[in-house]
Amino acid sequence: MNPFRPPADAWSRRDFMRNSMGSFALLCTIGGTETLGGKKVVTSAARRARAALPFAPFQRDLPIMPLLSPVVSEPGVDVYDVDIREGLAEILPGFQTPIYGYEGIYPGPTIRARKGRAAIVRQSNRLAFDTNVHLHGGYVPAAHDGHPMDIIEPGAKFDYSYPNDQDAAFLWYHDHAHGRTAKTLYYGLLGAYILHDERERELDLPRDEYDVPLILADHAFNKDGSFRYSENVDLGFRGDTILVNGAVTPRMRVERRIYRLRFLNASNARSYDLRLGQGREMVQIASDGGLLAWPVRRTSVPLHPAERIEVLVDFRDFRPGSEIVLHNDAGESSTKAVMRFDVVRGGPEDARIPRGRMRTLERLPAPNASRRWDLTLATTGGVQWRIAGRGFDPTRIDVRPRLGSTELWQWHNPSRRVHPMHLHGMLFRIVERSSGVVHRGERGWKDTIGVLPGETVTVQPWFAPYSGKYVFHCHALEHGDKAMMLQLEVVA
Ligand code: C2O
Ligand code: CU
Repeated sequence: MNPFRPPADAWSRRDFMRNSMGSFALLCTIGGTETLGGKKVVTSAARRARAALPFAPFQRDLPIMPLLSPVVSEPGVDVYDVDIREGLAEILPGFQTPIYGYEGIYPGPTIRARKGRAAIVRQSNRLAFDTNVHLHGGYVPAAHDGHPMDIIEPGAKFDYSYPNDQDAAFLWYHDHAHGRTAKTLYYGLLGAYILHDERERELDLPRDEYDVPLILADHAFNKDGSFRYSENVDLGFRGDTILVNGAVTPRMRVERRIYRLRFLNASNARSYDLRLGQGREMVQIASDGGLLAWPVRRTSVPLHPAERIEVLVDFRDFRPGSEIVLHNDAGESSTKAVMRFDVVRGGPEDARIPRGRMRTLERLPAPNASRRWDLTLATTGGVQWRIAGRGFDPTRIDVRPRLGSTELWQWHNPSRRVHPMHLHGMLFRIVERSSGVVHRGERGWKDTIGVLPGETVTVQPWFAPYSGKYVFHCHALEHGDKAMMLQLEVVA
């Protein structure tokens, strides 16, 4: 069976944007006769003009994904139970969008874990097709990493065991069954996994409701409210609507306090350049692999697919009643507004913005080898992306680094697309960018790096802490599926 929805009529966002230019007081541009939920409905012009539109920005409060609670807590380990199943999400007001979701919701429930306390996540596949779960950014033994060939069949389950033996970081979990991730992530199979540790407590960073995961993804819709997906292997999917935590361009009520905002780009292939309105500063404190050595003040942050950036924003700088839009400078018109922060009065603040050193970054062993990976498009026999001239072959090991060693890897991108390159199970540091200096916000631990067109980025992976078979690949999902992915085996 084909698990994914057939295309229906597209909603024309272009019409919508044309009529809403310069104003957020929007008029309906949907035709007089609509097919809504399978029924033909005639709407009068007057009623349409008054109705709040499904795509109108800043109409919905930012949803926060529910926390997943353990079903069992034993000494040293929390056990979670997750059903991977179909569900319905109200993304456009008044419409039910069919999704695939962890616990049937999009995005999936958030797992908050603690360093030093293991987690076992029992994933039951209630879908009609194979799936699996990858903990992106996690130090995870190979057998639990969600390798593309290790799948959970329909009706089966698997206990993923996560040691949580790494520094605090904003990880995420998502499907990784080979060849299908562009669709399965698009249709909802992803969620946040936040790992906490003592160090961030010592730093008095904002906590609980002031520590907010923001999952960005671009989508498109059919007129019946279902997600619209169209494959574009070269470019990668581009949607015309930005969702944050599953809501169209939402607004978030913030108190006059310090917030920790954790951005995850869960888009198939879209890159963002995030900027707060009025040119306000954000203080970047972390990247993919956790805290930076020093806080970095910046007014804009680029965010490529699968990357995470954590910033502190001090809303005490704003008057109650202020509305601050988060912009995306990288997008076309309908994707320029990401969300809005609406400032209200706040209470006393006990969180702080760190001024000095936040951590010491580990010293890496000297590299054992240098490798160059060309990122190219092959067009013979269908469009396929390649790494060093090769596509994914699960029977072939492409590189065998020694456990505990490091190497210099050059991602060389002669193509016209950005390739967000991701390594499973371990982290790397960025050594050099041919396009310029490595930004201070990129000098911490990373697991994904956007390699720009024409650029060569040199990274230094640390092949630790586990031996075994892992993959590295482009996280533009259409590229990774077709078949921009190689295999490494870390040998003891
Ligand atoms: Cu986020 Cu191999 O993936
Ligand atoms: Cu790519």
